[in-house]
Amino acid sequence: MGNLYIFDHPLIQHKLTYIRDKQTGTKEFRELVDEVSLLMAYEITRDLPLQEVEVETPVTTCKSKVIAGKKLGLIPILRAGIGMVDGFLSLIPSAKVGHVGLYRDPETLQPVEYYLKLPSDIQDRVLIVIDPMLATGGSAEAAITALKKRGARQMKLMCLIAAPEGIEKVRAEHPDVDIYVAAIDQQLDEHGYIVPGLGDAGDRLFGTK
Ligand code: PRP
Ligand code: URA
Repeated sequence: MGNLYIFDHPLIQHKLTYIRDKQTGTKEFRELVDEVSLLMAYEITRDLPLQEVEVETPVTTCKSKVIAGKKLGLIPILRAGIGMVDGFLSLIPSAKVGHVGLYRDPETLQPVEYYLKLPSDIQDRVLIVIDPMLATGGSAEAAITALKKRGARQMKLMCLIAAPEGIEKVRAEHPDVDIYVAAIDQQLDEHGYIVPGLGDAGDRLFGTK
């Protein structure tokens, strides 16, 4: 079973409260998601492997550390995942970005794939699948399955808010994938929305309805 991590940093929790608030308008919502994504990127990269290199300082040479191997791959699930990309890239600008387009059929709640474009070397990168919402888990499960089919070997899933149902689904289908979230909410409502959640993440990010 994959590990489950909760980002309990006070700044993340503080900003998440304002992200949830229905009074928060599109501009501020976007800015807050961007800021939280940067903080989450800092936390989720704690275990990146390092390698020692030699560096020449103005005084002498010494051994120092840099991140080993290829940089990360970010895989936002369209469309709401896009809102978390820039914050992440401001810390790790050389990460490659692939996109998985999925929407949830409002009747069946099943994910429908409509787009996929990935870096050519996903098998050599740690991929971070990003989506603000993990509700039934159908979208994240389908995205991870699509990535595995194309050769992905190492993945983490990063979400703002998760429902217990979504966590359970991803852990059952993909026990090799660790899940990182800022909050685990109570439940899903009859339309598959997370309660209390933040509403429709895509609509709030892009000002649609
Ligand atoms: C939302 C959200 C996730 C999905 C979560 O996307 O961004 O991708 O729902 O629900 P699930 O865990 O039950 O699959 P949505 O389908 O609303 O598409 P959008 O991002 O294009 O608005
Ligand atoms: N997708 C969203 O955007 N919000 C939810 O609460 C559930 C799925």
